[in-house]
Amino acid sequence: MTEQFDAVDIIRAKRDQEPLTDAQIDWLVDAYTRGVVADEQMSAMTMAILLNGMSRAEISRWTHAMIESGERMSFAGLSRPTADKHSTGGVGDKITLPLAPLVAAFDVAVPQLSGRGLGHTGGTLDKLESIPGWRASLSNDEMMAQLDSVGAVVCAAGAGLAPADRKLYALRDVTGTVEAIPLIASSIMSKKIAEGTGALVLDVKVGSGAFMKTLESARELARTMVDLGTDAGVRTVALVTDMSVPLGRTAGNAVEVRESLEVLAGGGPADVVDLTVALAVEMLAAADRPASEADVRAALADGRAMDKWRAMIAAQGGDVDAPLPVAKESETVVAPESGVLVSLDAYAVGVAVHRLGAGRVRKEDAVQAAAGIEIHVKPGEPVAAGQPLFTLHTDTPERFARAREALEGGWAVEPEGVGGGVLGGTLAGAASALSTVDVGAGALVGAALAADESVVLDRIV
Ligand code: URA
Repeated sequence: MTEQFDAVDIIRAKRDQEPLTDAQIDWLVDAYTRGVVADEQMSAMTMAILLNGMSRAEISRWTHAMIESGERMSFAGLSRPTADKHSTGGVGDKITLPLAPLVAAFDVAVPQLSGRGLGHTGGTLDKLESIPGWRASLSNDEMMAQLDSVGAVVCAAGAGLAPADRKLYALRDVTGTVEAIPLIASSIMSKKIAEGTGALVLDVKVGSGAFMKTLESARELARTMVDLGTDAGVRTVALVTDMSVPLGRTAGNAVEVRESLEVLAGGGPADVVDLTVALAVEMLAAADRPASEADVRAALADGRAMDKWRAMIAAQGGDVDAPLPVAKESETVVAPESGVLVSLDAYAVGVAVHRLGAGRVRKEDAVQAAAGIEIHVKPGEPVAAGQPLFTLHTDTPERFARAREALEGGWAVEPEGVGGGVLGGTLAGAASALSTVDVGAGALVGAALAADESVVLDRIV
């Protein structure tokens, strides 16, 4: 077959900051999916995109080409409206687990295609697979049937959905090009648009534990994705949320399922509950089934969300009453002195959890269901000398040393009344840009976040 373009010409054009045509983009994405454009050529291209960026028209066409590389699903036959949520990835981010059944409790269908752990960030499917019997792979028909009967499904994206992204993502992961905003935006949005959801709420994470380290870059990513969704006819809203500190008090696989069950039983840590409720309110509004924050909280307190959870897990073979796996070995890290925990870095915790066995080094690796960390003290809370700060769990105790190493420098205890307050990690630099956070003299942004317990930093529509 004669090819329409030469890949090298397109790479040179992006290298030299010349605009790409629709035809060039369509051909490049298609030819890469077909194996005509080689990995080394696409590596050069993605690096040129990372360095030189893409115009809005180029990002839009690139996303379109990725969608066209595979099938498109449609939920038009369902009796309920659909709403999906996507997080750009974080540490302790178990929000999908309580959120999907919570939204389904309001008669909105939630088709949540989720991923596995990536780098230091956890994966929803890995967490759910710690439930005995639960199955992540569903056929399109099974997914549709479950959406009809239960109203919520969390499963792996089928191989037919945006195959160009699957190939490109694996390449970016090993070529230092994950962080390019046009590539992240087109990767996420091609899958969400191809999936066919009517409404989409994006949780764009910012901070040390996220891919976006600054508020400015998180806002740019959020704006790019909202525009892509809106242009494709998907009602799209983004919340920019804090990921400088882990979400909740657990990070790992089964430990996060356990914490999610606390939320579904009407309890759980305030930051997890608040973010779950904020995202649910946005999803319901975007699906034209508005509910107040109080209504949504009530569905957690009175068991409606838990009932949906049980139905959702059971429909995918999960034994909802079986005990969750417990690690063979545990160790604690204790406070060296009395005082206040003044910092807890999400990235350090994410790396430690990964090293305990909750994540993969190679994509074919198995993860340990019981590996993870329990966080007993969060920033701003007092601690006594010798009191446990963290409990580390793994089945393979030789992993403890490297996990402890990852945590070193990732937290600090200071005697009460010393220093300028709680440290906010990388978000501190963005303090002046935050409208919702009052940054007083001597107090950095993390202190203010801890004080008003708000993890939502911005909302972009
Ligand atoms: N999640 C995705 O699906 N793609 C990215 O590029 C980053 C996060």
